[in-house]
Amino acid sequence: MALRLGDLAPNFTAETTEGKIDFHQWLGDGWGVLFSHPADYTPVCTTELGMAARLKDEFTRRNVKVLAISVDPLDSHRGWISDINETQGCTMNFPIIADPDKKVASLYDMIHPNADDKATVRSVFVIGPDKKIKLTITYPASTGRNFAEILRVIDSLQLTAKHKVATPVNWQDGQDCIVVPALSDEEATKLFPKGFKKIKPYLRVTPQPNR
Ligand code: BEZ
Repeated sequence: MALRLGDLAPNFTAETTEGKIDFHQWLGDGWGVLFSHPADYTPVCTTELGMAARLKDEFTRRNVKVLAISVDPLDSHRGWISDINETQGCTMNFPIIADPDKKVASLYDMIHPNADDKATVRSVFVIGPDKKIKLTITYPASTGRNFAEILRVIDSLQLTAKHKVATPVNWQDGQDCIVVPALSDEEATKLFPKGFKKIKPYLRVTPQPNR
């Protein structure tokens, strides 16, 4: 069955370009992004891996580890990494899982047979410190992912895990937030010293509480 938000991210051991890992151990106490690639030496994936490597500092600042997966073997990944570094202005700085028997791809339901019965789609899983799945996005092979959006959602996830707010449409870190409907006005007054604006009883806006 497909993995859903709130499910425990299944654990696995796998060979990667940075050695064998136990996924949960490797994640430690922080956040993780696991994202799949249809195959090595493919142009869109090459640009995605380069972007993720260039964003290393952004992921680290958010305590997020990044892990890619492609069903090709390790020696293929190693050759491909040289191409990624050469063409994308980066030095690869996170592991790529080698999954030739599709063990991890199957565990995470990354192969969608009606799209392609062999290659994985572009799945993204964001995993929280509790090892639960916080975000899933599935893109087709023909569309490269938007890593600014992935970082934006991580910002929202990390904020809303700590504060009783939700984030509105197109929200960016630093912008006003929504007071969660479960809070009464009295509770909101206590929790948000900067105050809140009541546009409708169900639509209350407050400055980002951790700023
Ligand atoms: C790519 O990563 O470039 C790609 C992979 C499969 C189909 C189309 C593009």
